[in-house]
Amino acid sequence: MSEDSISVGAASAANSSRVARSQWSSRWVFFLAATGSAVGLGNVWKFPYITGENGGGAFVLVYLACILAIGIPLLMAEFMIGRRGQANPEGAVAALAREARASRHWRKLGTVAVLTGLLILSFYVVVAGWALAYVPTALMGKFSGLDGAASSAMFAALLADPWKLLGCTTLVLLITLGTVSLGVKEGLERSMRFMMPGLFILLLVLVGYAATTGYFGAALNFLFYPDFSKITGQGVLVALGHSFFTLSLGCGAMMVYGSYLPPGTSIAKTTLMVALTDTGVALLAGLAIFPLMFANNLEPSMGPGLVFVTLPIAFGQMPMGQLIGVLFFIMLFIAALTSAISLSEPAIAWLTEKFTVTRPKAALISGAVLWLLSIGSVLSFNAWSEMTLHGKTFFDCMDYLTANLLMPLGGLLTVLFSGWVLSRATVQQAIGIDHPQLFQLWWYLLRWLTPLGILVVFLHAIGLFD
Ligand code: TRP
Repeated sequence: MSEDSISVGAASAANSSRVARSQWSSRWVFFLAATGSAVGLGNVWKFPYITGENGGGAFVLVYLACILAIGIPLLMAEFMIGRRGQANPEGAVAALAREARASRHWRKLGTVAVLTGLLILSFYVVVAGWALAYVPTALMGKFSGLDGAASSAMFAALLADPWKLLGCTTLVLLITLGTVSLGVKEGLERSMRFMMPGLFILLLVLVGYAATTGYFGAALNFLFYPDFSKITGQGVLVALGHSFFTLSLGCGAMMVYGSYLPPGTSIAKTTLMVALTDTGVALLAGLAIFPLMFANNLEPSMGPGLVFVTLPIAFGQMPMGQLIGVLFFIMLFIAALTSAISLSEPAIAWLTEKFTVTRPKAALISGAVLWLLSIGSVLSFNAWSEMTLHGKTFFDCMDYLTANLLMPLGGLLTVLFSGWVLSRATVQQAIGIDHPQLFQLWWYLLRWLTPLGILVVFLHAIGLFD
């Protein structure tokens, strides 16, 4: 990396379009950062458990369709808006709207995106805290000889301890915002270099181990045999929401990363590579977890604890399981960290550019808000577990509100803005796809299939087609 390449941290200086904004120092760094954002708890923690809750194969198929028809076109649009707008989500959308002589109100899309990011981060750090808490547990060899019941009890004991959860959550927040306030590029690059291949290899090892349990076939069947009687309208909405969550869409994170993008990088190629890696990691996680779940008589619908209950059983039985367990939870934590960093970046860029505060100050302000919100999620698992709205705890509500409402809404507005407000000429120039047919395909998806897809899923979920 050349010395004069500007770090993303220097973005604080870029408080107006007159100042040169910082950029990724290479395409490779941009790819790493985008993949680091996409691959996270969504793949290893959330995908397996929502697949379990929604009956398996049919859900996975709908999720894959959402990635293809909605996620990929939208991810390209977010990169494009960021690169063209050269600002935080609100500033970028405002600049493009001005250029297109469209209503000033479009900028609110960016504002909502920034706030959605903060809401997601407030519970994301709690789950990242679980991964952090399991590092010393693995190190002390506490997984040895666990069975399904003992492992469930161990996880339940963690959730029942609000102080421990709050401690871990606070630590995650400090590390995330500490990194962010220093400038994310250096930290991101260094951690991504060994984290991505490392997590991939460990997942492969775990899939290999899962194949010896005798339940690999059952897991394959569960994951890939679609039984459409098992999926509901709500399930389809969850699949859609997850395609946003896992690709970091609908809240400006990829817009900000796109805004640090130098001209000339292929948006289409990067998008496909990010989506492929992300989906690969999620499927590997499923293949590692479900055989263990079947082998240990655990329920597929057991909820958010799935990965934290199943994998420790494997670490307790397999050769070198103690070492592998420690490494796994460290990698999972780092994967969560690179995602958490991207979740905070829209707010940080927004605060620094709109209110001209310094990066550390922006980190401090968002940190305070996030910490207070995260307490609600921490208490959802113990003191406030009975306090529910429609059967959902505070944590569940945050998850539902963001993944199933705010992100799809943000995504819908983003595609409508790119496909119908901006002119075709602007978009064609900004996206930089040389191949006319390829551009035509994306343009068609963006204008028609993607927005209609999101709408149909919404209407389906509220029961309009029943
Ligand atoms: N994609 C990440 C994951 O799967 C989570 C994430 C990071 C995210 N940045 C985001 C989700 C922005 C929504 C929006 O774990």
